[in-house]
Amino acid sequence: MRQSSSVWTVVLAAAGLAVGMELHAQEEVEGANAVLPWAYVLNDPAVAAETPDPDEVVTVPGSSVSMPRSAINIDNGPPDWHPDGHPRMPDVVAYGGREGVVACGYCHLPNGQGKPENAGLAGQPYEYLVQQMTDWRNGRRKPGEPRMGPPAFMERIGLATSDEEARIAARYFSSMDFRPWVRVVETDSVPRTQFAGWIHEVIEGGGVEPIGTRVVETPVDLKLTKLRDDSSGFIAYVPWGAVARGRAIVTTGGDNSVACTVCHGDDLRGIGPVPALAGRSPTYMARQLYDLQTGVRDGAWSDLMDAAVKNLSLADIVDIVAYTASLDP
Ligand code: HEC
Ligand code: HEC
Repeated sequence: MRQSSSVWTVVLAAAGLAVGMELHAQEEVEGANAVLPWAYVLNDPAVAAETPDPDEVVTVPGSSVSMPRSAINIDNGPPDWHPDGHPRMPDVVAYGGREGVVACGYCHLPNGQGKPENAGLAGQPYEYLVQQMTDWRNGRRKPGEPRMGPPAFMERIGLATSDEEARIAARYFSSMDFRPWVRVVETDSVPRTQFAGWIHEVIEGGGVEPIGTRVVETPVDLKLTKLRDDSSGFIAYVPWGAVARGRAIVTTGGDNSVACTVCHGDDLRGIGPVPALAGRSPTYMARQLYDLQTGVRDGAWSDLMDAAVKNLSLADIVDIVAYTASLDP
């Protein structure tokens, strides 16, 4: 009897500990927007939704395709403005797959360049892309801010995607080169932006404000980005000196980290299965550094990043991603 009660004490203590840890983890998860609001973007409810004419016929520069506006936001057959700009898309990329598997090209764009609220997939190593899909399927890659729509959506897609679908998509995206996509501008002040569509949108006539310790990544041409044009990239405003400070951390590790180049390559274009960082969305990369630091991203290979992210400050994250985005992909 005594023995069994002490067993219960242990079990209850363990259960209490588990509950406590769960609450702690949840608090952290819900805090990601509070910590990095410019990276874990939540839409501003005060921004009025536009209601453009669905029948208006639209096109984008350099495309011979045109379509009614109502054909833009179709998640099982998104627009392909530049069919010559990429190999033939497999069905899972163009139309989606099994129940819950939304066309990858809808968010990552047909050429895999991606956007700040998702990720550029083009040119990442095949093994790396497959591993990420496996991590989602195994519940090891979670969104750092569940209230931010697109990463939470990706988690559901990752859970639904079969290994075969993942391999087909990974083969497609890894076969393409990632193209120059983000222009980094160091500055003290930035155009004022609002949060809509899970990104920063410049407020027309809204004036400027101090940049502070953040990255403000916004479309070069908002209208084209809204049309899902995979030829129209982004501009990333970063604080003065961020690129040089980031270079110092990446190449030496600085005070708080380890040199990144050992694993990601001198040019940060990746080595073997280790992902490329060069020229890619600083907003996406910032979310990953923070998710790896808090452990919500805890994939099979994530431990390799522990020493790099453990002691990074928020200012370090801004500097690092400013530098990585400024490099030629
Ligand atoms: C609804 C939009 C959406 C669709 C559709 C979508 N993704 Fe994603 N994907 C995302 C978002 C958002 C992220 C970034 C998650 C984050 O920031 O943590 C992402 C990230 C990824 C990554 C991680 C990239 C990296 O560098 O680690 C892979 C791999 C990926 N997606 C594959 C796919 C595949 C394959 C499909 C199609 C089966 C797909 N995605 C469909 C939104 C989407
Ligand atoms: C010991 C090898 C190693 C070192 C050192 C290292 N990384 Fe990584 N990095 C990796 C691996 C492996 C992954 C994939 C992790 C996973 O699958 O979860 C990764 C992933 C990343 C990602 C996510 C990329 C994406 O597309 O989602 C970022 C960002 C990143 N590293 C930045 C850095 C920075 C910045 C440094 C230096 C401060 C650094 N890494 C140092 C091995 C390393």
